Amino acid sequence: MAEPDNRQAILDQFTRQAVPFSTAPGIRDEEALRLLVTASGVGPADIVLDVACGPGLVAGAFARAARHVTGIDLTPAMIERARVHAHEQGFDNVTFTVGDVQPLPYGAGAFSLVVSRFAFHHFPDPGAVLREMVRVCAPGGRVVVADAAVSPHPARAAAYNRMEKLRDPSHVRALSLAELAGLFERAGLPVPVVTRCELRGEVESLLSRSFPGPGDADAENVRPRSSPARYSNPADARSGTVSRRRSVAPGRRRKPTCSTSTRRCGPWSWSSTCAGTAANRQTRRTTGAA
Ligand SMILES: C[S@@+](CC[C@H](N)C(=O)[O-])C[C@H]1O[C@@H](n2cnc3c(N)ncnc32)[C@H](O)[C@@H]1O
Repeated sequence: MAEPDNRQAILDQFTRQAVPFSTAPGIRDEEALRLLVTASGVGPADIVLDVACGPGLVAGAFARAARHVTGIDLTPAMIERARVHAHEQGFDNVTFTVGDVQPLPYGAGAFSLVVSRFAFHHFPDPGAVLREMVRVCAPGGRVVVADAAVSPHPARAAAYNRMEKLRDPSHVRALSLAELAGLFERAGLPVPVVTRCELRGEVESLLSRSFPGPGDADAENVRPRSSPARYSNPADARSGTVSRRRSVAPGRRRKPTCSTSTRRCGPWSWSSTCAGTAANRQTRRTTGAA
């Protein structure tokens, strides 16, 4: 279960963020959602779980391709948004539940594909959540994680995390790509394959949809007074795309895929999204965490 302070911060932020978050262009970005869906290899037989589903945009994207999608999230206001979105889109194959993702309230192997986007940096123990995702994923199914991947450079990673924590107090820690891959390994998943894309955002628009503590938005870490590039994207922003999908022989376990994206905002740069898809290589269902 989420720690009490973390739980309170999540509920406080995401109750208030529900509307601005779910209407933000970067969050609704169709191309990014398509990339995630494609990288996952979802098909019409898949039973999908969206972990910390927020306003249900990821669940909706998967609902177009899968048999059924369940979304779970701690914040009732987010689940409300998700239900409205599903109704507006006319989905009849999605279900949303208010609940904590640690532990997940589902049996072992209940889903063939388990996905989570932009949530791992909010978890005090992301490894435990990933193990839960593996537990509820059927053997041979796929586990997909999309999240901020910070620089491997410790000082840059720390600066990013400091800034994000000031901007959004429910932020815990974004991991580097190597750390995310390490979580996969320790959860018993194969090495994920990496795909990159870029999502751009500006500091002001990020600030406009979160609720920093008093004075925190003006901290040097968030809005540096010295930088001329204060609120704009740097000209050198790069978009990297590396995508490797391995073919899957019929009847064989799927090979892992992983994608990352890089976002550069204001005077900072940080890698923003890592969506790792990996096969669940357990051959038997387990009753506990993998
Ligand atoms: C940044 S939003 C991402 C929402 C959605 N996955 C998306 O990409 O659009 C993070 C979400 O994680 C949820 N969350 C954080 N910790 C959680 C927990 N322990 N259990 C369930 N949901 C949690 C929050 O309520 C919030 O809706």
